[in-house]
Amino acid sequence: MSKYSRRDFLRKASVLAAAGTLPISLVEVAFGESHPKNFTFAFISDSHITQTKGNNFVENWDRGLRRSVAECNLLDPRPDFIIYGGDIAQLGKPEEIDHGLDILAGLRGDVRYVMGEHDYYLDLGSHWRKRLGPERYSFDHKDVHFVVLNSILTYPEWTHKQWDGGMQRMLQMARLDNPHGSPFMVGDEQRQWLQADLAKIDKATPVVVFSHSPIQKIYKGWNFWTDDAEQVQALLKPFDKATVIYGHVHQIQYNQIDNISFHAVMATAWPWPYPSTYKQAESHLAKLTVPMNRADPFFERDATGWQFIDMHSGNVDLRYVLPGNTSRRVAFDEEAGRPMDTRYQGAMARIPPRNHY
Ligand SMILES: [Fe+2]
Ligand SMILES: [Fe+2]
Repeated sequence: MSKYSRRDFLRKASVLAAAGTLPISLVEVAFGESHPKNFTFAFISDSHITQTKGNNFVENWDRGLRRSVAECNLLDPRPDFIIYGGDIAQLGKPEEIDHGLDILAGLRGDVRYVMGEHDYYLDLGSHWRKRLGPERYSFDHKDVHFVVLNSILTYPEWTHKQWDGGMQRMLQMARLDNPHGSPFMVGDEQRQWLQADLAKIDKATPVVVFSHSPIQKIYKGWNFWTDDAEQVQALLKPFDKATVIYGHVHQIQYNQIDNISFHAVMATAWPWPYPSTYKQAESHLAKLTVPMNRADPFFERDATGWQFIDMHSGNVDLRYVLPGNTSRRVAFDEEAGRPMDTRYQGAMARIPPRNHY
């Protein structure tokens, strides 16, 4: 494999980021400066490909995904693999999933997929599975254990209620603040699978979980929420260090709960504003250790920029390059024991926001 230093990685990635608004995340897993096992993977999420009629799709969402594919193919060093974080489709239609996968087929490299609720609730994942295989699996890569979960399941009585067909069920789940909605969950069966999967892994091995919804409780009305989050967290607790990387929220979020770091990736489609308030946090968020990093909710492309996630010693550093916003860095602070929003002092700090060009 190619050897590179973190400095090289950041410099090369920074050149790409300086080119504009790139809805892609690049994650570096580093065991030390120039360590032979250092590697990167890329993350693309939440494209929401939307069919209007026949072969016509909403161009803006197509464009976001096409651009992320093109930029991903330019990454140097090449990422070892690429994760797609869910919500390929808007309404789960086979045409939308197929169209999204046609675009994603342009990616150079192995792509692994996470199930999103917009891919699932029309036909309960049947077309997605036909194209992509099972939605929960694990793999080991260079001394890191990766787990992919389907975190957007819900209670069977809701799923199998007499909706007027799958499309009505999908539309119910797509709504925000829906009194008839239902919270996401990983579910008993999948948690048992996870427990058995993790039982084989040494507790000193870094574990990275990819889910679509956050495996934490943030905002129930928008389903920024996983109902059995605490039970999943309990399975990750015995590990020295675990990281959960998720899509779905279309905005910058990070948190630390005990040994588990949580990081959201941004969407290629649109950013969600922050909910009218995270005041719900007091009543619903299990343990908020890091204040939310508030982007500008009135700027439509805010939170669709570059995000660099740098995992080292089991922790991650994130660098955000946002159009029209100040670049920022969220780094793990050993003393505080949690990620902190700090002004980045390295290579990325020299990149001015795009509107300064
Ligand atoms: Fe989404
Ligand atoms: Fe989603």
